[in-house]
Amino acid sequence: MKHASQLVPWAFACALAVVNCSSLLQRLQSELSPRLSGSGLLSETAPARWSEFDAPNPGVVVNVATESDVAATVRYCTAHDIPFLAHNGGNGWATTFHLDKDGVMINLAALNHVTFNADKSQATIGGGSNISNAIDHAYAAGTLVQTGNCNCVGVLGAILGGGYGNLMGTYGFGVDNVLSLRVVTADGRLRDVTAASDPDLFWGLRGAGPNFGIVTAATVKSYPAAAAEDMQAWTGNLVYTSDQLEDVVQAIQDLVLTPDMVIFLYFLADATTGVPAVIAAPFLYKGDAAAGRAAFAGLYAVGPVADTTAIVPYDQWNVASDALCTRGSFKPGWAAGFQDMVPATWRAVWDAYVAFQRLPGAASSGVLLEAYDLTKARSVPAGSAAFPNRNVRFNAFAIPWYNDSSLDARAAAFGGAARDLLRATSGLPRNQTYVNFAHGDEPLTEVYGDGVPRLQAIKERYDPGNVFDEWFDIRPGGTSNTSKASYYY
Ligand SMILES: Cc1cc2nc3c(=O)[nH]c(=O)nc-3n(C[C@H](O)[C@H](O)[C@H](O)COP(=O)(O)OP(=O)(O)OC[C@H]3O[C@@H](n4cnc5c(N)ncnc54)[C@H](O)[C@@H]3O)c2cc1C
Ligand SMILES: *[C@@H]1O[C@H](CO)[C@@H](O)[C@H](O)[C@H]1NC(C)=O
Ligand SMILES: *[C@@H]1O[C@H](CO)[C@@H](O)[C@H](O)[C@H]1NC(C)=O
Ligand SMILES: *[C@@H]1O[C@H](CO)[C@@H](O)[C@H](O)[C@H]1NC(C)=O
Ligand SMILES: *[C@@H]1O[C@H](CO)[C@@H](O)[C@H](O)[C@H]1NC(C)=O
Repeated sequence: MKHASQLVPWAFACALAVVNCSSLLQRLQSELSPRLSGSGLLSETAPARWSEFDAPNPGVVVNVATESDVAATVRYCTAHDIPFLAHNGGNGWATTFHLDKDGVMINLAALNHVTFNADKSQATIGGGSNISNAIDHAYAAGTLVQTGNCNCVGVLGAILGGGYGNLMGTYGFGVDNVLSLRVVTADGRLRDVTAASDPDLFWGLRGAGPNFGIVTAATVKSYPAAAAEDMQAWTGNLVYTSDQLEDVVQAIQDLVLTPDMVIFLYFLADATTGVPAVIAAPFLYKGDAAAGRAAFAGLYAVGPVADTTAIVPYDQWNVASDALCTRGSFKPGWAAGFQDMVPATWRAVWDAYVAFQRLPGAASSGVLLEAYDLTKARSVPAGSAAFPNRNVRFNAFAIPWYNDSSLDARAAAFGGAARDLLRATSGLPRNQTYVNFAHGDEPLTEVYGDGVPRLQAIKERYDPGNVFDEWFDIRPGGTSNTSKASYYY
């Protein structure tokens, strides 16, 4: 709505009948389409999103075919005060989006190329590539890239906020693996941004990326496999009954992670029965059953009632989470970072989860936790990228998953309660939340840490008109005004 006044000149032109103004689509067809690489790139149909809660709702979608199409669209929209937003994997769940029918979605899906240099030590990944696409190409090339753990997520959508993934104990955060970024900035220029060319922009893009431009491609480090075991991991689910929860939580607290280990904890319902379960998912890079059982002995000691662990090839690691990629429904998220697994906290989170999960249509709701070894990530200087959370040991989020908006208030009560509980025993001096897991109502310092003033200065230089304001807007007061869900509790 805040852009409504910017439509006046267009409405005025309509009134004078100097243009055909029956719709934004027709206007863009006559004015923008001729500047694009081909015809037929405009549509009124938005691509399906992971969550429909408070989702962007564009008037027109530009299905770009080239990076020049991105630049042309940004130039056109900026010149005409038309709000716009890049769409990559479409997984962003935050309430900070405000794109409406007067706005344009730039769908990056066609920019999905993934190429490697001669020795496979570098990968160049298109700004619209999802994770499964990147992994499939890497696997075929005999190399590995540090991406996230769900196939549907945009590679760059995750990396531009930090980039957690199964290989980060070994190779660090996504942001630590970026060598250069091709970026369309607010002025419509296509820039090759490196640590040497634009140190501030390169720093800001790696943690607060969506504030500064649209990345059309990234060149990242890639790790050629030397042996068969480099392309596999031991992983799967250890299922527990709810009365074992405290013991599972304590076992995770006591676990000493090494760089090849990752641990996940899920509260999720059994897909067929709808009965909620406690599931721990260990991951051991290059591991086998014997090494996995030894590394995660504490979790085995609790006595899982089911065990699906197996050796899994690199291109299948994310298959287990494919159900979490299901598009549609309302899935607002509430997250927190913290240092310790506290059994009483997790019992209270469980109680909040089962109370919401048993409501009609809410069976798929969940709570997810992940922890990685941070030795490699902490060997990188803390100020080397805008991503601020190298100190955080655990990240967790609650996802109410439902279709009926009459449950909005109860979803917010569940998510807000889970977040409050995790924050209350976080062991951190202040609240810290991974920006890509955050709800949208957090203070800026909670998601960007001490980097806020520097990020605001970079915003002034590269995007003074703040055309990139839909994802945790770095301006003063930027995130808090746009939250709708937080009004519920
Ligand atoms: C099922 C699921 C699994 C997840 N797993 C992980 C994980 O393993 N690791 C992890 O770190 N995070 C993970 N996340 C969080 C994820 O990083 C965020 O949801 C992220 O915002 C998703 O990016 P996207 O491209 O899929 O979504 P989108 O909604 O398309 O993008 C989110 C925001 O980033 C911007 N953006 C995306 N691509 C670009 C680009 N190329 N240039 C500029 N701006 C861009 C968009 O404009 C938008 O503002 C997961 C989320 C879900 C829902
Ligand atoms: C990922 O991208 C590929 C290629 O662009 C596409 O075919 C596939 O459907 C996408 N997968 C998911 C899970 O989004
Ligand atoms: C929500 O609606 C979709 C589409 O109608 C349906 O496929 C899905 O099963 C529903 N989900 C829940 C949780 O009811
Ligand atoms: C952290 O969040 C809680 C609410 O979950 C709030 O009460 C507390 O004041 C916050 N802490 C800081 C330091 O802002
Ligand atoms: C949020 O509100 C403050 C004060 O009311 C204002 O200064 C700021 O510009 C607003 N931010 C947005 C993104 O509208």
